Amino acid sequence: MNVQLPYTVPKLTDYSPAALDRAAAELITALGKESAALANESDWKVFRDRWVARKSGVLTQLNELWLKRAPKDAKRDVGQCVNMLKEQVEQKVDGAKDWLSAAVVEKEHPGIDVPAKEFAKWAQAVKFPIDITLPGIPRPIGAEHPIVKTMNEILVVFRNLGYSVEEGPVIETDYYNFESLNFPPNHPARDMQDTLFIANQESKPLRERLLLRTHTSPVQIRTMEKMKPPLRIVIPGKVHRNDPPDASHSPMFHQIEGLAVDTNITFSDLKGTLDHAMKAFFGSSVKTSFRPSFFPFTEPSAEMLVSCFICGGSGKRGTDPCRPCKQTGWIEILGCGMVDPNVFEFVKDNGYDPRKVSGFAFGMGPDRIALLKYGVDDLQLFFQNDVRFLRQFA
Ligand code: PHE
Repeated sequence: MNVQLPYTVPKLTDYSPAALDRAAAELITALGKESAALANESDWKVFRDRWVARKSGVLTQLNELWLKRAPKDAKRDVGQCVNMLKEQVEQKVDGAKDWLSAAVVEKEHPGIDVPAKEFAKWAQAVKFPIDITLPGIPRPIGAEHPIVKTMNEILVVFRNLGYSVEEGPVIETDYYNFESLNFPPNHPARDMQDTLFIANQESKPLRERLLLRTHTSPVQIRTMEKMKPPLRIVIPGKVHRNDPPDASHSPMFHQIEGLAVDTNITFSDLKGTLDHAMKAFFGSSVKTSFRPSFFPFTEPSAEMLVSCFICGGSGKRGTDPCRPCKQTGWIEILGCGMVDPNVFEFVKDNGYDPRKVSGFAFGMGPDRIALLKYGVDDLQLFFQNDVRFLRQFA
């Protein structure tokens, strides 16, 4: 059996600098070995007492056995050596504790980010050689949020059709969110979207007052102001409405908007594009259906439904009623329509003469699509950032 005796401070007979160096190196090697063997907090306490306890710790012994017994002419060298060792021992004892607690956290929570920086700092302080050839600790990079993932999948469908992606500000002016989209001041159509306003804006003219955008449609105008037709864009983003949170509502949610403007764009283009997009996203067997609707910025306007991709359009799951489509076999997916000429009037000077161009627009809610797709029954789960929930989508 290979029994290794613990380090004890030797008495010195030779006080030459070379002998001091050798004795110091021996001590440091022992210190490194002992600290590397620590496995838990109680090990560390024993380690600490052994090295730095006042009464009989190694440091105290260095004073007694080396410094006090040194001949006068070697006192200076021995003093320097003991001071250096004292510093190293103290750093190692403190550093080992930090390192150990980080290692324990790492063990109990695999994958947690125990800052590598802390380790590096400690390793440097104790002049601990780092073996860079050892394999590192793998740190998972996390997973895409299911809503972001859904949004990206939808965007890809449109990018493949030649659409580009545009974005705009979440804090918007009344002009972009409402007025230029043909919601005149005080028009009751504004009640469709219960808006969160930024406080203390009353001194400004109405159109400059700030609010949290209620939809991504303002980016239609912003993009038409900076890009001339023809245009094909999709607009992902966050929007806000004054809706209390529940299983299917949230004051913050997401939209993906689409806009195509060119000469001779017709309602058939709208239907063909969206039908293709739904088949590409949900699978080639889904059908689409359009019902008349109203939005101030499109005319005519429609609501598009897709045949329920949960029950296949039958309204039933086995003998049970299909809940997501409320037994209708159809799921409402988006609002759409032909761009109202009144909207083009606001960007007429950038080439959008309503007599020359036409277009269609649509807006959908990826949060609801993600809920249905993943069979999640509470929208709030998406926004609580509980990794146990989110990890399931990794
Ligand atoms: N902005 C509308 C909404 O949030 C959706 C929509 C977009 C409708 C584009 C028609 C055209 O309800």
